[in-house]
Amino acid sequence: MAKARSKLGDKKVRKDHFAERAKGTGFRARSVFKLEEIDLAVGLFQRGDRVLDLGCAPGSWLQYARTKIGDGGRLVGIDRVAIAGVPGARLLVGDVFTVVPADLVGDLGAFDVVLSDMAPDTTGIRHVDQARSEALFERALELAVATLAPGGRFVGKLFQGPDMKRLVELARTRFATVRTIKPASSRQISIEQYVTAAGFKGREIIHTPAGTT
Ligand SMILES: C[S@@+](CC[C@H](N)C(=O)[O-])C[C@H]1O[C@@H](n2cnc3c(N)ncnc32)[C@H](O)[C@@H]1O
Repeated sequence: MAKARSKLGDKKVRKDHFAERAKGTGFRARSVFKLEEIDLAVGLFQRGDRVLDLGCAPGSWLQYARTKIGDGGRLVGIDRVAIAGVPGARLLVGDVFTVVPADLVGDLGAFDVVLSDMAPDTTGIRHVDQARSEALFERALELAVATLAPGGRFVGKLFQGPDMKRLVELARTRFATVRTIKPASSRQISIEQYVTAAGFKGREIIHTPAGTT
């Protein structure tokens, strides 16, 4: 019993300013402020955009995207867990490692923006968590390449680790501009970063001269 109480106490301590603010605004998670910061920094959304959100639960990024793309925009979200509906969003329950890109795109033709706030179930073992985050990021990038329209934009969460440089370079082969952002609303102790990319170059294979990779 005493143990349960102390756990509850820990949770209360973790309820920070951003979590409280999210509650007051009707958004489902504090993560919304990270997306807002990224959006303000790079101008992610336009009215009427078609947006895919990978790892969308509980749905605050979908809620935010809806406010930016308007009623004419289209939203698709996927997560391993089901979430409550978001107006006008098509929601899939599934794993990004097994989903078929065509099932995400449906009748939309392509997306203008692909988002990934996916995080692994953390173990507390740093290199294991980093490796899992890198795999999720790489899959998100792969799905973005498979589903974006030329000129499209991408945001992917990535735990800082040994493979970060390679993954940022991989994004650079596919997008005209790539930058990394650590939002102020991301907990300072967290090793998460967001890789943002714009100007998708298209799906054709990008050839690099032999010996330069
Ligand atoms: C930090 S939460 C996303 C929060 C969301 N951006 C929001 O604002 O509501 C990360 C999500 O990634 C999902 N996720 C992790 N691995 C996944 C996978 N392989 N396939 C689909 N979703 C995954 C988790 O289930 C979790 O809901």
